[in-house]
Amino acid sequence: MKYLTFALAKGRLAKKTLRLLEQIGITCEEMKDEKTRKLIFVNEELGLKFFLSKASDVPTYVELGAADIGVVGKDTILEEGRKLYEVLDLNTGKCRMCVAGPASARQKLNDGSLIRVASKYPRIAKDYFYNVKHQTVEIIKLNGSVELAPIVGLSEVIVDIVETGSTLKENGLEVLEEICPLSARVVVNEVSMKMQHERINKLIHDLREVLPE
Ligand code: PRP
Repeated sequence: MKYLTFALAKGRLAKKTLRLLEQIGITCEEMKDEKTRKLIFVNEELGLKFFLSKASDVPTYVELGAADIGVVGKDTILEEGRKLYEVLDLNTGKCRMCVAGPASARQKLNDGSLIRVASKYPRIAKDYFYNVKHQTVEIIKLNGSVELAPIVGLSEVIVDIVETGSTLKENGLEVLEEICPLSARVVVNEVSMKMQHERINKLIHDLREVLPE
């Protein structure tokens, strides 16, 4: 039997995914060892392999066929823009992609001013401002702690993930516009979907049965 390979975004999401997989009888004992430095884990009996990668690399592994299946946030799927099938919403890790900033920036969003937008997600920011709002903006790519940008005067607004909203609140910022809801998704390589149709479909079906509302 050919292995079915999973690429999981490491961190909280991988742990949640493993718990879901356990509920449908897919286990990988080796992966539970918190101290292990191994990157790839095998369940010989079920013909499955799992590896953990940086979230932004999951779509790359899946598109190019190094993994058949990936589990990753919708934010990463949108930002990477890879060719793959998004087959299931796991309804976990729910949050929102938003435009945020100080209340004073609201006016600039409404009057179409040439503003600066800082984000870890330049592609999502560009798509939103150019194709949805039809507003020309300058996009500044950052790699983290994006909330700093409007505070120190690097940009007028940010495009970032909002979960509880507490990071914004504690920094005197607020949600100004909502771009889209986000959650963890299962993605599948386009060729694997055809070649391993039965196994993958059964997996999606089983997962759907145990998903939270
Ligand atoms: C994310 C996001 C926000 C924060 C939102 O950051 O970029 O900063 O979480 O969560 P909240 O609405 O519940 O406060 P992350 O922890 O991934 O770190 P980073 O962006 O600074 O790398």
